[in-house]
Amino acid sequence: MADAERTLEPMPPESSRPGPIEIAVVGSANVDLSIQVPRIPAPGETVLGGDTARGSGGKGANQAVAASRLGRRVAFVGRVGDDEGGLWLRERLEDDLVDVRALLSTRGVPTGMAVITVDPAGENSIVVAPGANRRVTPHDVNAADTILAEASVVLTQLEIPLDVVAALPSHTRGLLVLNPAPAQPGVALGDYDLVVPNRGELAVLAGADETPDLAVVADQARSLDTPVVVVTLGAQGAMVVRNEPDPLTGEAGGPQVVTLPALPVTAVDTTAAGDSFCGALAAALVEGATIVQAASWAVRVAGVTVTVRGAQDSLPHRAAVGSWED
Ligand code: RIB
Repeated sequence: MADAERTLEPMPPESSRPGPIEIAVVGSANVDLSIQVPRIPAPGETVLGGDTARGSGGKGANQAVAASRLGRRVAFVGRVGDDEGGLWLRERLEDDLVDVRALLSTRGVPTGMAVITVDPAGENSIVVAPGANRRVTPHDVNAADTILAEASVVLTQLEIPLDVVAALPSHTRGLLVLNPAPAQPGVALGDYDLVVPNRGELAVLAGADETPDLAVVADQARSLDTPVVVVTLGAQGAMVVRNEPDPLTGEAGGPQVVTLPALPVTAVDTTAAGDSFCGALAAALVEGATIVQAASWAVRVAGVTVTVRGAQDSLPHRAAVGSWED
């Protein structure tokens, strides 16, 4: 690592909830630039869109904020640059009571940034410039060992280097959950208690084609080397596929496939819907929900998220979504 990129001292937590960490999220933080467009541009096409909206994002930070707004004690492990965007993202996380002791700053490297186009149906396309997210290292994971060991759930994604993700199992005492986004082959899925892909990510992991056929989706999920797979299905909700016995609850019974319908909402922006789902899933599991109860609530929480524009701007607070027990 160049001297100009050296790590700055982490700042002390100022506003996180007191008590042990329940959920640790190891992942990315981005400044999002979102543009509403009449259609997602085709290759070579220029499309005129609306004004740029700046928001706090990054799959990791979004999932941390999602779980914190649902009332859980959450820590975020990651990196930003020592620029205005990095300071702003740190403040946003603190505003949401996320513990940022393990959010490091990298000198001389820009904070991650995402350019997002959103079409009139709420569908998005995202290009990420990882910046400081690419500088997260296994050493950062070692340094966050106390936080990771304390957490009942450790949640990660693939917007940070794979060697960082691969370092997590040896630091995790609770459930280890992977949201394999963006999808890449070569992740040791057997290291995870729970994997939460969308349909396209599942297809990449299974080495197959993306399909609208839910029976084939279930087969693809069963083919993964992981005990429980929860597939997010957008407007179709989600599917829980678990093997016998349920490794999360110890419950016996044959392999189980449960499909959970989505809320009947009109989506204006699906950005961070998957992040909201993962944050809610983790929050409910910490509270003692079964995987099906947790996924059912996560579908509801994601359904509320898509009715509001933006990434973290769209993540609901507990009061808006109630409990998984309701
Ligand atoms: O999942 C949505 C997120 O993906 C955005 O906030 C963007 O930053 C990218 O990480």
